[in-house]
Amino acid sequence: MTDQIDTGLAVVILAAGQGTRMRSRLPKVLHPIGGRPLLGHVLHTAAALDPAQLVVVVRHERDAVAAAVAEHAPRATVVDQDDIPGTGRAVQQAVAALGDFQGDVLVLSGDVPLIEPETLTGLLDAHRARAASVTVLSALVADPAGYGRVLRDASGDVERIVEQKDATDHERQVAEINAGVYAFSAAALAGHLAEVTRDNAQQEMYLTDVIALARRAGERVAAAPAPDATTALGVNDRVQLAEAARLLNDRIVRRWQRAGVTIQDPATTWIDADVTLAEDVTVLPGTQILRATAVERGATIGPDTTLVACEVGEDAVIRRADATSAVIGPRANVGPFAYLRPGTYLGAGGKIGTYVETKNSRIGEGSKVPHLSYIGDTEIGVNVNLGAGAITANYDDIDKHRTVIGDEVHSGSHNVFVAPVRIGDGAKTGAGAVIRKDVPPGALALSVAPQRNVEGWVEKNRPGTGAAEAAERARSAQKPGDGTQR
Ligand code: UD1
Ligand code: CA
Repeated sequence: MTDQIDTGLAVVILAAGQGTRMRSRLPKVLHPIGGRPLLGHVLHTAAALDPAQLVVVVRHERDAVAAAVAEHAPRATVVDQDDIPGTGRAVQQAVAALGDFQGDVLVLSGDVPLIEPETLTGLLDAHRARAASVTVLSALVADPAGYGRVLRDASGDVERIVEQKDATDHERQVAEINAGVYAFSAAALAGHLAEVTRDNAQQEMYLTDVIALARRAGERVAAAPAPDATTALGVNDRVQLAEAARLLNDRIVRRWQRAGVTIQDPATTWIDADVTLAEDVTVLPGTQILRATAVERGATIGPDTTLVACEVGEDAVIRRADATSAVIGPRANVGPFAYLRPGTYLGAGGKIGTYVETKNSRIGEGSKVPHLSYIGDTEIGVNVNLGAGAITANYDDIDKHRTVIGDEVHSGSHNVFVAPVRIGDGAKTGAGAVIRKDVPPGALALSVAPQRNVEGWVEKNRPGTGAAEAAERARSAQKPGDGTQR
């Protein structure tokens, strides 16, 4: 990777194809792996080379693809491919957009997402050292089906590339495939593309034909094998999409393990490309950490947890939880079985416990919502404890309203807070209360009618039942806890 712009380098990324084999409404290059579209990975890799120009060729669903380009590489130029099909035509139109550029053109495929910058700089170095017209990145693979094959002559020099559909049975035995990644000298590329025809099985302009044309013109043509064949994986269908996602995840997991993160079960742990994890984070099995989630030192995530675009503070513990756009403070405790929806903020040392759903709510430092609750559009101060079954009734069928709970409030079990409502600092509420009116600081709020026991009701109204017999036995034995008022 270079720090300065490589003035002799232009990068072209091919992203105009439909991707028929995906059988999808979504253009192939926009299918995500690791939280980014396939094309997004290629754009990040290309940008890391600091090329003088970066061009992306689009056609199928061009607006959607162009929007992804703007998001992942704002400085890239988008070029529209016309109706003439094929990778050769795509590059031809990209080259026209490069103007009088005279350096090397690196061509990448939007559907080959695992290529790494180091592989590309290696390819460029080899290309420049040999002063070649074309250097193609190749790979030796166990199953070459579907790829173009690199054909070499008796002395081992590259002769041409043949596509799967045009290849003879004999040619299909070749295990060296074209990765769809190439370095060209700009002048030779433009010249030879003008000679490419559509005389082949798919009636497309093949970029790969440039290799044979350059060789026939007596120019230097080479293939540089990729150091790791898996990085050359091309995604044409959803089987390969899952393979690419798995390989990318393996790479990301290993990177974090080397950076000091304990990942107990890499096979069931999925971490997106944009996640950041600090040293001594522990990730337990069955966990997905997605989008730009950031986890601070010492936190434990999992088992069976999904975090999407969350911030997790130091030494927080999150078990069996599902959280999106939530901020979880240091030493806070979440789960098991918690659902944190967008806008949840949990202060330091706080707790969102078992079977608790939260949304657009701020829970202050040291405050706890431990069991069976729904907390929405709510502000909770510090050191609050809500009893089991707290419900904020935030929706009156027309509008959403806020509940504001002060500091050091303790609520009884099974309370409903009918918003808009405010509970003052230090207030307490009784079990089963339905809080419809504001509670002043330090008050005890009760809303449940005093209990009334109707003596002998069961024996009178349900004679002969098991309940009546049990009550009679209890009465004659005068057991304590027999329901008589004391
Ligand atoms: C291509 C190569 C093949 C190579 C393989 C590597 C050609 C003729 N064949 O085959 O040798 O082994 O990639 O993965 O180049 N695209 C356009 N415009 C088009 C057609 C395609 O921009 O008109 C783009 C696609 O969006 C895709 C890339 O080019 O990103 C490759 O196209 P695809 O149809 O997948 O080519 P393959 O058959 O895989
Ligand atoms: Ca392909």
